[in-house]
Amino acid sequence: MPSISAKEFLIWKKQQLLKGGDYQSFALLLDSIGGISSNTFNLLSINPEGNLYLKKNLKYLESIWEEHLFNSHPIQLLCGETFWRNLKLKVTDKVLIPRPETELIVDIVFKIFGKTSQEIFFAELGTGSGAISIALALEYPSWNGIATDIDENVLEIARNNYINSSKKSNLKFFCGHWWEPFESFKGKLDLAISNPPYIPQDTYEKLPKEVKNFEPKIALIGGEDGLKHIREIIQKAPLFLKDNGWLILENHFDQGSKVEQLLIENKFKYVGIVNDLSGVGRFTIGRYK
Ligand SMILES: C[S@@+](CC[C@H](N)C(=O)[O-])C[C@H]1O[C@@H](n2cnc3c(N)ncnc32)[C@H](O)[C@@H]1O
Repeated sequence: MPSISAKEFLIWKKQQLLKGGDYQSFALLLDSIGGISSNTFNLLSINPEGNLYLKKNLKYLESIWEEHLFNSHPIQLLCGETFWRNLKLKVTDKVLIPRPETELIVDIVFKIFGKTSQEIFFAELGTGSGAISIALALEYPSWNGIATDIDENVLEIARNNYINSSKKSNLKFFCGHWWEPFESFKGKLDLAISNPPYIPQDTYEKLPKEVKNFEPKIALIGGEDGLKHIREIIQKAPLFLKDNGWLILENHFDQGSKVEQLLIENKFKYVGIVNDLSGVGRFTIGRYK
């Protein structure tokens, strides 16, 4: 294990951050490849004495950092993992890197259902890394959930993330197109959640390199107006939700009122837009009938 004095390490860290990038990305690199947790790192900044033991040497860490900075390679993919809420999730180029703003979906669920010990049956359509479903399954051990995706390789990652985060078995994974895996659960769901691909085709073309070159197209593009998948999910939701069942969707920053309208047209009530932490109408929710 390479060892280095704390002082030397702090100088090196400053040099790396001067090249660019953000502190959170650097902290992920240190934790996941360097073996230096945020706690160790914070203690070190207060008391820079003694020696540090790294899993990889500074030259190697520096080469990864530069690959991230100069080739716009997402640090999460270089590290093979990411932090999301209180979870550490494996990610590859097959799955969308779960975004911080999506963390709020779990808070919306808390607001709706509170600390209920009822046996809620929930579904997540398009689970990707499994982030949302795993967080709910852990938070509500009495709930049962089904998380789906169109891509079996993606589900493999989600399944492993679940096994690594939980000893329980209250979450199942099925492969298929949106509602298809739920054929035998018609009228049975208390809650359905989806963060579907919602980027309009022409907006996708203008996305930054770190997204376009490294993240799966199928997780991002929502047809010409971005609403192709959202429309399909909303139109079929009434078949699968119980009366009074909730639907929670993430959408593009400017789609809130259109999604709201789609919910109303499909007989949802208590329809509303929920802002993310930057005040953007990022989520739309409704209760069926
Ligand atoms: C925007 S990503 C969301 C991933 C994850 N839920 C999250 O919030 O980070 C959309 C996900 O939907 C999946 N997907 C795309 N088309 C689908 C379809 N027709 N049926 C089911 N899942 C689909 C993609 O593979 C991808 O994992």
